[in-house]
Amino acid sequence: MIKLELETLFSPEKIGNIQIKNRIVRSATHMRSTEKYGYVGDKLIEIYSELARGGTGLIISGFTAVDPGGTANPYQACLYDDSFMPGQKKLIKAVHEYADVKIAIQIAHTGRQGYHPKYHPVAPSPVLFKITGLTPRELTANEIETLIQKFVDAGKRSYECGYDMVQLHAAHGYFLSNFISPYTNKRTDEYGGDTQKRAKILIDIYNGLRDELESNFPIIIKLQTEDFIPNGLSLEEGVEYAKILSEIGFDAIEPSGGGGDAQILSKKPYPSLNIKSPEEENYFLHNNKRIKPFLNKCKLIAMGGIKNPISAERILKENIADFISLSRPLIYEPDLPKRWQNGDISPAKCISCNGCYMTMMQGPVYCVTKKKREEKMTK
Ligand SMILES: Cc1cc2nc3c(=O)[nH]c(=O)nc-3n(C[C@H](O)[C@H](O)[C@H](O)COP(=O)(O)O)c2cc1C
Repeated sequence: MIKLELETLFSPEKIGNIQIKNRIVRSATHMRSTEKYGYVGDKLIEIYSELARGGTGLIISGFTAVDPGGTANPYQACLYDDSFMPGQKKLIKAVHEYADVKIAIQIAHTGRQGYHPKYHPVAPSPVLFKITGLTPRELTANEIETLIQKFVDAGKRSYECGYDMVQLHAAHGYFLSNFISPYTNKRTDEYGGDTQKRAKILIDIYNGLRDELESNFPIIIKLQTEDFIPNGLSLEEGVEYAKILSEIGFDAIEPSGGGGDAQILSKKPYPSLNIKSPEEENYFLHNNKRIKPFLNKCKLIAMGGIKNPISAERILKENIADFISLSRPLIYEPDLPKRWQNGDISPAKCISCNGCYMTMMQGPVYCVTKKKREEKMTK
C-alpha cells in the first residue's frame, strides 16, 4: 500500500518516450562483478535482477567501457565490440522480466583517471593526476574524433541489445568530464576554450547517437556541475552546460560533481562521506535548484545522499527534480523501493560510510556495514 505522503515518488513519469513506473532511479554503480575482461555473467545478472525485483523504476548500469584503454579493471562491463552483446542481451532480458522495470546503460571511458597495465591514460591535456602519479597523454583532434565514434558505436550496440536508454558518463573526473573542466582541458583547438567549445565533444556524441538511433530513443547524461577544486569547474559554468545540453535535446540530466582531484584537493570527497544529519543529506540539492529552471523538456534526476523518502517526495513535489536516484542505499537494500512502497517509510539503512566504495578497489562491491551487522547478529 502506498502511503499518501509518497504519492509523487510512486507515480509514473516519462524520460523521452519511455514511461518509468515510479520516480526512483538506481544511479550508475560499478559493482566490479562481470566475468574477466568485461563480459556479463550470472553474478552481474543476479545483482540487476535483485534490483528489478526490489521495485526500482529505472536502473542505470555501472560504467561500461567504450574502448579497451578506458577500462578501470578487468571486472568492469565493456561494450567496445560485438562480442560483449550476447551477455548484455541476457542481462536486459532478466531485468525486463520484472513488470515495467526499465534499464539504461552508462557508457564511459576512464580518461585522465585511467590506470591500466597496458594502456597509458589519455585526456584533452597533459595534467598530472596525483592519485595515480600519471600524466595523461594529450589526444590529437583525430584521436578525439575516433573516441567520439567509439561512444556512438557503443550507444548503437546498446540500442541493438535492447537497452531502454543510454547515459553518457560526463562526471567524476573521467574522460568526458576532463573536457568540460577548465582544470583538465587546456586545449586551444575546437575541443578547448570557452564553455561552448569544451562542450563540443558532448554535442558531437549526442548528434552522432541521434543520427544512428531511433529518433525518440532517450539519451541522458550524468553531468559534472562542479569540481570542488581551485581553478576547476564552477557551478556557474555547470549551469551553462546544463542549458546547452538541454537545448540540444538531451532527455535527462543527472547533476553530479567532484572526483579524484577533489578527494585530495578539497574537503568534498566523492561520493560524500559520513552523512550524519538530515541537513547533510541531498548534497546536490543546491546544484539541482540552480539547474532545473533551465531544463524545459529535459528531465532532472536528483542524486547524492538521498536517503529519506519524505524528503525525496518533497524534492519532487517542489519541482526541484523529476526523479531521484540512489546508489549506496541500494547496495545495502536492493529492495528499498518495495519497502517504502509497502508502507515502511523509515530512511535507508545506508550510513554513507563509503565502505562499499572502498571494496570496489579490490573485488566485488558489497555493503560493509550490512555485513558487519549481519555478522554481529549471528554471533
Ligand atoms: C561502489 C560505487 C560504484 C560507483 N560506480 C559509479 C559508476 O559506475 N558511474 C557513476 O556515474 N557513478 C558511480 N558511483 C557514484 C554513484 O552513482 C552516486 O553518484 C554516488 O554514490 C552518490 O549517490 P548516493 O549518495 O546515493 O550513493 C559509484 C558509487 C559507488 C559507491
